[in-house]
Amino acid sequence: MSNIPSITLNDGAQIPQLGFGVWQVPDNEATPAVRAALQAGYRSIDTAAIYENEDGTGLAIREALAGGLAREDLYVTTKLWNSGTRDWSGEQGRDAVLREFDASLAKLGLEYINLYLIHWPRPMHGSYLNVWKALEQLKADGRVRSIGVSNFGQEQLTRLLDEAEVVPVLNQVELHPYFPQKELRAFHTRHGIATEAWSPLGQGRELLAEPALVKTAEKHGRTVAQVVLRWHLQNGVIAIPKSVTPSRIRENLNVTGFELDAEDLAVIAEIATGKRIGPDPQEFDWN
Ligand SMILES: NC(=O)c1ccc[n+]([C@@H]2O[C@H](COP(=O)([O-])OP(=O)(O)OC[C@H]3O[C@@H](n4cnc5c(N)ncnc54)[C@H](OP(=O)(O)O)[C@@H]3O)[C@@H](O)[C@H]2O)c1
Repeated sequence: MSNIPSITLNDGAQIPQLGFGVWQVPDNEATPAVRAALQAGYRSIDTAAIYENEDGTGLAIREALAGGLAREDLYVTTKLWNSGTRDWSGEQGRDAVLREFDASLAKLGLEYINLYLIHWPRPMHGSYLNVWKALEQLKADGRVRSIGVSNFGQEQLTRLLDEAEVVPVLNQVELHPYFPQKELRAFHTRHGIATEAWSPLGQGRELLAEPALVKTAEKHGRTVAQVVLRWHLQNGVIAIPKSVTPSRIRENLNVTGFELDAEDLAVIAEIATGKRIGPDPQEFDWN
């Protein structure tokens, strides 16, 4: 077992600060990857309907449960893909959310999931508030423990804060040392919303070869990935790194037992470019 800290969300639930993401992992590869993650000690798994691997992910989870892992020791997140040509407004939009949720739950093969997220706000369609109300319904019915959002900006969050009943427990957004999201994180903190980082390792590209980070990693006798994940943890951010490589899966969990100091944090702050790897959520409208 790892000694990964947990964060208490605004609804009282606890989420491990380090989880395991499975984007771009084909369904049949998700089973061995999630199996390896659970064996390594991860207790939080992040999937989504659009990843098309809820079946394979669920299989590994159910296997672990059958093997004695307690459901309450496991945290499972999936996300609503409220895109396509469907109309997400009004009653029919809300019914569609409930159907999408049922489909995800069935694929995962679980009685409940811990966290359900709206994957993208698609603000140009103006239906995210309606979609959020359906998530509130799911929570009220006890079918999901917590509800949150992903890729929401301050404008969308403000609308939920003003007009919805339930405050999202977290907002899952692109976040890594190149794109540290300082302003959005501060907004989250002011409103009791936790920050969860997607692509926390910058998708394993240039970031992991960044000279300043290589130097910091050498200083601590760690890898760059471990330094970056440590940075997330010390910032109070929840991180969900993805890997299908068993040695990296273990490496990414081994991020306690050292501390980045003020000098390290200053070095990491210096490399921020403010550039995203992924799309701008205010414009993203993939069908
Ligand atoms: N809400 C959203 O819109 C959204 C968007 C993107 C991602 N996400 C979530 O966030 C999760 C993580 O993001 P991500 O998958 O985009 O990127 P990431 O976790 O930042 O990076 C994953 C990449 O880094 C490599 N890697 C992992 N650990 C490594 C290590 N220790 N050393 C060297 N390379 C390493 C992986 O390679 P191998 O797999 O080959 O080992 C993979 O190519 C996703 O899986 C998904 O759950 C959510």
